[in-house]
This record gives sequence, C-alpha cells and structure tokens, in this order.
Amino acid sequence: MNLEKFVSSIDYDVKLTKYDILGSIAHTKMLAKCKIISQSDAKKIINGLNSIKKDSESGKIKFTGEDIHTSIEAELKKRIGEVAGKMHTARSRNDQVLLAERLYLKDEIGIIVEEIDGTIDAIKKVAQKNLSAVMPGFTHLQNAQPVLFSHWFLSYGWMLKRDKERFKDCYKRVDVMPLGSAAFAGTEFPIDRNFVAKELGFSKISENSVDTVSDRDFLIEFLFDCSLLSMHLSRLAEEIIIWTSAQFGFIALSERFTTGSSIMPQKKNPDFAELIRGKTGRTYGNLISLLTMMKGLPLSYNRDMQEDKEPLFDSVETIKNMLDVSSAMIDTVKINSEKMLSSCKNGFILATDVADYLTSKGIPFRTAYNIVGKIVNYCIKNKKSFNDLSIAEWKKFSEKFEKSVFGVLDFRKSTELRKSYGGTSLSSVKQQLKKL
Ligand code: ARG
Repeated sequence: MNLEKFVSSIDYDVKLTKYDILGSIAHTKMLAKCKIISQSDAKKIINGLNSIKKDSESGKIKFTGEDIHTSIEAELKKRIGEVAGKMHTARSRNDQVLLAERLYLKDEIGIIVEEIDGTIDAIKKVAQKNLSAVMPGFTHLQNAQPVLFSHWFLSYGWMLKRDKERFKDCYKRVDVMPLGSAAFAGTEFPIDRNFVAKELGFSKISENSVDTVSDRDFLIEFLFDCSLLSMHLSRLAEEIIIWTSAQFGFIALSERFTTGSSIMPQKKNPDFAELIRGKTGRTYGNLISLLTMMKGLPLSYNRDMQEDKEPLFDSVETIKNMLDVSSAMIDTVKINSEKMLSSCKNGFILATDVADYLTSKGIPFRTAYNIVGKIVNYCIKNKKSFNDLSIAEWKKFSEKFEKSVFGVLDFRKSTELRKSYGGTSLSSVKQQLKKL
C-alpha cells in the first residue's frame, strides 16, 4: 500500500508550477514591502524562485512529494537554505492553492474565449460563402420548411456567442485574489492584500477568509460553461455526421477529418465529429464530479477539495481540443446545394406557405391548416406533389385557390417571404451575419 501516493496530487498539479511561483514571488515582495521579512531575504527567495521557474520550464526539475506547493518550497530550500521557510509567512496552502488555480484559470479562459471567436469566424465564413443555398429545415428531423443553409448554420454562431459571454462573465468570479486568507481566519501579520492583487493583475480581493478557502464555485461555474459549450459543439458535430451521410449528402468534409474503414474501402467516416460528440460526456462528468465532491463539505477547507484539479484540467484541455478541431473541420465544409434543394421536394415542405396563402385570402389560419392537411393526404394517396395538381384539383379543396397558388410553390421564394427580423430571408440573414 502506498499511502503517500494516495494523498499526493503532484502528478497533476505540477501543471500549476508557473502560477505557484508567480504567486510566491508576489507574496514575498509584499512581505518585504510590509517589513515582515527583510529586503535581502526577499531577494534571495525571489532569485531562487526565478531560477526554479527557469529550470522547470526547460524540464530540468522532476518535482516529487505531496503537491506542487510543498515541492517548490522544498526545491527552494535546497537552493537557498533555511531562509526559504520565510516565504510561507502569513499564508497557508489553503489560500496558496486557490491563488495558483485562479491565476491558471484566468489565462485559460482568455485562450478559450479566443478559440471560441475562431470557431465563430469559421462558421461565419461557411455561411458567407454559401449565403443563398436553400435546404429543408427540420423539426423532429422531419422536413418542415425551406430555410437558407446560411441561416441554419449561423444559429451555431449565436450559441457560441452566448458561450463566450458566459466565459467572460465567469472570469469576473475567477478574477478575485484569495491570498491573505491564510488557513481560513486571516493572519496577524500586517499584510497588504491589495498590493499582491495589483502585482498579479487581479481586479479584486476576496472579502471573507472562511468563504475564500472553502469556495470552489468559480471552478464549478467554469465547468458548467465548458459543459454547455461542448453540448453546442456536440449538436453541431451531430448535424455534420447526419449531413455527410449518403442519405443526406448535404455537405462533405476534407479527408483530413474523415477516416476509412479497415474492411469497407468506400467508407469516409466522420470520426472527428463523432469524437467531439463523444468527448462531451467528459465535460459533463467533470462538472458532476465537482458538484458531488463539494455537496457535503463543512466549512472551511477539506482535503476532498484536492479532487478539484483533475476534472478542471481535463475540461480545460478537452474544450480547447474540441474548439480547435471544430473550427479546423468547419473550415473544410463544402456544401452540395443541389442535393439540399432537391431534398426540399420531400415531405410537402411548402404546406405552411399554402396555408399562409389561403390565410391571406381571408380564411382563418386554423381552417386553412385543415384544408392543406386534406390536400397533402390527397397528394399522398394519388402519388402527386403540390406541383402536379391542376387548378381544378386545388379548387376542389377551396374556392379561394387561384392560379396565383402556383407562384407559392417555390422553395427559394418561400425563404424570401420570411423577412421578419431574425427570419430566413436573404436580407435578414445578411443583417444577422453583420451583427454576429
Ligand atoms: N494539494 C492540496 C490541495 O490541492 C493543497 C492544500 C492542502 N491543505 C491542507 N490543509 N492539507 O487541496
């Protein structure tokens, strides 16, 4: 039985090395400024920390021990002797670990927000390039109404825009400096927490030392934001998977984003899209993991909280990979506009347009709806489409039908009629593209 290994987090919190060192340097500067330690001791400590930082960046140090925080201090002691112990004045690992996590997450949110922007750009480019292609829109995955492909595709851009706003909002809760809470009660030393905050680029300091060391809300919020973003990417991936199938054939991806089968030579499988969909399970798992880990904890710090790191790191890496692959894959989307348009012929997708036609002639919409329902049944029974019906046949269902009904039976025209704000007409889509 390896008891040390059970309590150790060094295998993964080594990721926080840089942030722990930056935090310790700022803390040490503050201790000297507030005359809690001497300037010359502070200098030794800071020089030592900088040398550790350099060596860790070039991979020269193998950190071992309980966690990265104790490990760095032990390394510092090796390099500068007993004076290293002064660095831990007026702090505890409880606030130290939070400082490193918050610094780390601030950087990562910045990267994620940029990557979301990149994916939105990729979506916009595909929409822009295929602005006027018409496809069947779906509900229940059944052909429903004609829609511009660009309109449909841009909806994912709006989802991602909301995700971006959520991450930026989450950043406000991450951007709070915890150090100086010490174990949980604060410290008797005359520290200057605002100095440390300024030094490290935090815009606020935390208000309650007990809450500070007990709080993992900012991580849970972040993991939720990752879950929601991955859900959106997963839905887009699902759409791509369906659309690349032979039955749909709406789009094709570059071969870089498909793989062959070892037995069926014709296959082009959308594995990348499938893995985006699959990895969504992880981000949900990480969120549930943290929520569950926290639910029964009394205040303040408990060692359970060490379990916050692996889900956090996993979600950060997973979501960055998902965004990278999504935007690169979307960049290669080629659409088959003929296939989209011909697919509109299935499923009487102009039924609503015909009902609207009758409605504009004074028939109440509900009645018009029933009349068109009967026409659809008639067509199915007689193996006809709307286009095959003569004016005499139309008139059998309602006297209000005129020759002008034939003008309604046009998929593109149907999309053009929907000029309502946020609708699928070309002008509305151009407007939203600009806004996005
Ligand atoms: N590795 C620990 C963690 O991540 C550091 C805090 C340890 N604090 C303590 N009181 N044992 O939570």
